[in-house]
Amino acid sequence: MSVLIAGAGGQLGLDLVDAFADHTLVALGSGELDITDEAAVAEVVHDAAPSLVLNAAAWTDVDGCEADPQRAHLVNAIGPWWLARACARLGATLVHISTDYVFDGSTPLGPGGKPRGWSEFDPVAPINAYGRSKAAGEQLVRETLPAHHLVRTAWVNGARGGNFVKTMLRVGRERGVVTVVDDQTGSPTFTRDLAAAIRELAVTGRYGTVNRTNRGSCTWYDLAAATFEAAGIEVDLRRQDSVALDRPAARPGWSVLDDTHANAAGLTPLPPWPDGLARLLSELDGADPA
Ligand SMILES: NC(=O)c1ccc[n+]([C@@H]2O[C@H](COP(=O)([O-])OP(=O)(O)OC[C@H]3O[C@@H](n4cnc5c(N)ncnc54)[C@H](OP(=O)(O)O)[C@@H]3O)[C@@H](O)[C@H]2O)c1
Repeated sequence: MSVLIAGAGGQLGLDLVDAFADHTLVALGSGELDITDEAAVAEVVHDAAPSLVLNAAAWTDVDGCEADPQRAHLVNAIGPWWLARACARLGATLVHISTDYVFDGSTPLGPGGKPRGWSEFDPVAPINAYGRSKAAGEQLVRETLPAHHLVRTAWVNGARGGNFVKTMLRVGRERGVVTVVDDQTGSPTFTRDLAAAIRELAVTGRYGTVNRTNRGSCTWYDLAAATFEAAGIEVDLRRQDSVALDRPAARPGWSVLDDTHANAAGLTPLPPWPDGLARLLSELDGADPA
């Protein structure tokens, strides 16, 4: 299969390159393909003639998006539209990655009044510019290209690139005291596992939207505690409310994504998040800390 990866220099993009290494691969970072450039996208996709396009490109700086919603829309909505149009012309399949941030962070209730994860079929209601731009990207991909896999994921961490786990390792080693929010709940997801899940999904022909996160959920505080414990870092870890952080963009409080639809589609569940964390930490142990 011939595969083109856009955003190949990001944390997920780099692991997608590894996951699809046995295919004929064109992997393009932001310097090689700017997905907001319609003509460049059309030309590159036409010339590479892939049967599968993976879009790992996005502007993921949530507070940056709040300050510049037009740029957020351009990268996170219009760029995916150009990719979907190029795929439609070629008859290629597009895997596009989206986010838990399309939801408002309230807690949907399931049977017995118990909190449940957001399903693929719940209405989106983003509460920040990043979420709005990603929701618009989803809509444009759906309207443009039936042969799409729209993968919603959350709380992404990989060995390469910036993320929460790597930040905790750095600040934990630098400081004796670390304060982390304890009022946001989600499913930490690890790019090795997500890339493998995307590889499995991409050949199913079961198009549509699907949630793909590591199994289980926790708060950022819990993830920080698990990171310090697994890495053997002694830290005085303290809890904080999101409101005390006073960040430009609001964050959803409840980001857990349901996996019923993924199971119905016959997809393999991702490993529990503590397993993904353990494997990330051992990968980082053997890696250049950059
Ligand atoms: N990170 C998370 O916690 C999280 C959570 C839920 C969903 N997601 C989604 O998962 C996907 C992968 O995220 P990630 O964490 O791997 O993000 P990432 O590490 O920030 O990587 C995104 C990549 O996109 C590139 N990019 C930005 N603008 C571009 C453009 N106009 N054209 C081409 N490439 C461009 C960036 O390049 P430069 O660095 O050179 O700009 C970067 O290499 C995204 O769709 C994201 O929305 C992420």
